Amino acid sequence: MKHLITGVKPTGSSIHLGNLMGAVLPFGRLAEGNDAAIFIADLHALTSVKNGDLLRKQTHEVALNYLAAYGADTDIAIFRQSDVALIPKLNWILASVTPYSLMLRAHSFKDAEGKGAEINMATFTYPILMAADILAYDIDVVPVGKDQIQHLEMARDIARAFNKAYGQDVFKEPSAHVEKSVETLPGTDGRKMSKSYDNFLGVFDDEKTLKKKIGQIVTGSEGLDDPKPLDNNVYALAKVFATPERLSEMRGKFERGTGYGYGHAKADLLEILLDSLAPIRERYSALKDDSAFVEEKLRAGARKMNARIEAKMEVVSKLVGA
Ligand code: ADP
Ligand code: TRP
Repeated sequence: MKHLITGVKPTGSSIHLGNLMGAVLPFGRLAEGNDAAIFIADLHALTSVKNGDLLRKQTHEVALNYLAAYGADTDIAIFRQSDVALIPKLNWILASVTPYSLMLRAHSFKDAEGKGAEINMATFTYPILMAADILAYDIDVVPVGKDQIQHLEMARDIARAFNKAYGQDVFKEPSAHVEKSVETLPGTDGRKMSKSYDNFLGVFDDEKTLKKKIGQIVTGSEGLDDPKPLDNNVYALAKVFATPERLSEMRGKFERGTGYGYGHAKADLLEILLDSLAPIRERYSALKDDSAFVEEKLRAGARKMNARIEAKMEVVSKLVGA
């Protein structure tokens, strides 16, 4: 059994289809038979979100998304980063062994700088807090997106720097896991589905919104009765969500073409999505108005992780003398 953790910043809205297929469900599969936790990195979000009510709301929404995806009785510990009070202490201890030159190499603050964003000190030292999130719990594997690989390398460097400074193997070096089996889902404009392109279909969008967004999917200009190439954006999404029977039916209709235009295919796609997403959407609706339940789940997750970090920090504090 392996210890897994991942974190997600509560900076946006609900998850979209790309997040679901590329990150949320793969993490659920990896979690099976292992000890897995997922946390909402609200402290990390402070670098950019400057509104407490908004941050609390977005944090709650992420928790709700994950509970809907994994089920209310999931074994995955879901918790809020800020509910683990020893994390900032560990962050400081790790900062005290982290070379400035290591932080200077981080892509993340340079990217933010490139985009003209404010670079505060937390943006600069962000990878140290991320190392604390992982090293605190003796994690083996951290499932992340490609953009986080460098942060994982830094977490390993920081673990090594601490172990070397104190002459003991206190922190385990975690490895990154990047999901390779999942293809990139296209958004309505054919580019990668992404929050930042505003081309996404939300997993929890209401039916009317989904219908409208599907209507905006960019397609070819073949006529109603022409055969249609299968590399179109409607088929690309159907491929991921349709049952095999439904998909081969759509494929046949596209290949024949006759009387099957992109409008028809879009109506089929809406049905396919609603069917495939029904269980997760139903769980979401059931939990949406039960914020007390969601909060209790977050507290239970935090209790488990607090017990873990407390044990670890006993060793660390003894060693560092503070
Ligand atoms: P966004 O581009 O919308 O900001 P994120 O970068 O927050 O998405 O994505 C979080 C994770 O969701 C990524 O690491 C990746 O695994 C997955 N993901 C995001 N978009 C897609 C997509 N279009 N297709 C497949 N997976 C995706
Ligand atoms: N930096 C991650 C991101 O922006 C979020 C994160 C914070 C994280 N702490 C983590 C991910 C620890 C994995 C492990 O997506």
